[in-house]
Amino acid sequence: MFLWLFVIYTAVGVEGIKWDAPTPYDPVWLASVQQYSVVPALNESRFWMGWVSESDVQFRLFTRSNPYDYQVININDTASLRNSNFDFYKKIKVLTHGWVNNGYSPMPESIKEAYLNVSDVNIIVVDWSNAANVNYILASYNVAMVGRLLTEFLNFLIREGVSMNDVHLIGHSLGAHVSGIAGAHVKRGPIYSITGLDPALPLFTFGNKDARLDKHDARHVEVIHTCGGYLGFASPLGHIDFYPNGGTRQPGCGFDYRGLCAHNRAHMFFAESIISDVPFTGVRCESYDELYYHGSCKGTGETLIMGGFDVHFGKDGIYYLKTNADKPYAIGDPV
Ligand SMILES: *[C@@H]1O[C@H](CO)[C@@H](O)[C@H](O)[C@H]1NC(C)=O
Ligand SMILES: *[C@@H]1O[C@H](CO)[C@@H](O)[C@H](O)[C@H]1NC(C)=O
Ligand SMILES: *[C@@H]1O[C@H](CO)[C@@H](O)[C@H](O)[C@H]1NC(C)=O
Repeated sequence: MFLWLFVIYTAVGVEGIKWDAPTPYDPVWLASVQQYSVVPALNESRFWMGWVSESDVQFRLFTRSNPYDYQVININDTASLRNSNFDFYKKIKVLTHGWVNNGYSPMPESIKEAYLNVSDVNIIVVDWSNAANVNYILASYNVAMVGRLLTEFLNFLIREGVSMNDVHLIGHSLGAHVSGIAGAHVKRGPIYSITGLDPALPLFTFGNKDARLDKHDARHVEVIHTCGGYLGFASPLGHIDFYPNGGTRQPGCGFDYRGLCAHNRAHMFFAESIISDVPFTGVRCESYDELYYHGSCKGTGETLIMGGFDVHFGKDGIYYLKTNADKPYAIGDPV
């Protein structure tokens, strides 16, 4: 196993991004995740090939004029941008999926639908399924390369006249770190906002900010934690960190042995928040410790709405809220 890691590690040096050696992880956990039945069979030859190329990452544009049939925009290909429905006067939402998902997975699909329902924005779906549908270890290494390609894509938009003030990156699981890496490296930033939906924990260390999402990656970094300490980070990573139902287990998920139900709640809450009339209102905690030790918090009296169509600015900090166990999840203001 360690030889594998070494081979991957050395084969996959990405300029500009410092990678720590893989962190200790629980092999039993890793084995259990890899045997999860929903996961498609892993392509061993792809694993052995070890690396993905630029053509494995696709930037797909959706607008209200083409909500279902995407237009591919290629890095540095001005014609592909100018001949598309991309509207330079509208905001840009960039959606990046996680491990074993693809461009048609519920994340990004449900978030795309929600945005287009309420506004005619430019939606860019980053499809990196070829790099994500491999062993988790390799997928987590591919995050650096996908993040670098997203950086190049955004730099291309900048050269074409787009301001990073109009850009909001939204990423789930490993996709949250892809977004963070792009935010950290983009020229003429900062990016307006990044929303991290249960950023992936396994193989990412809190200490190495260069390889994961952190609050320096955009003007406003908001994180929704739903499977913290297991599939997602428990520690706060953004300016604003929301912990629905305490951020570790989620109502309606049952025993949720592998945590995937709770992990996916993050993007379900977020998609609902874009179109919901009922807000996901969080109460601000005194500290992360209060939330950590009690699984909830009394609140300081300050509140902030999680997600929503546009960013809600509030006091930086830790926010707690409750949700319903089923759709609709939002319960409105805390009582
Ligand atoms: C596995 O990946 C390789 C390389 O991309 C490809 O040639 C092969 O067809 C794939 N096999 C399966 C079963 O998908
Ligand atoms: C795009 O153009 C920039 C600037 O000329 C260059 O640095 C970069 O390598 C190019 N990227 C691709 C994928 O062609
Ligand atoms: C938004 O959603 C509503 C309810 O599902 C639907 O009736 C409406 O057609 C949607 N609007 C757009 C622009 O997609």
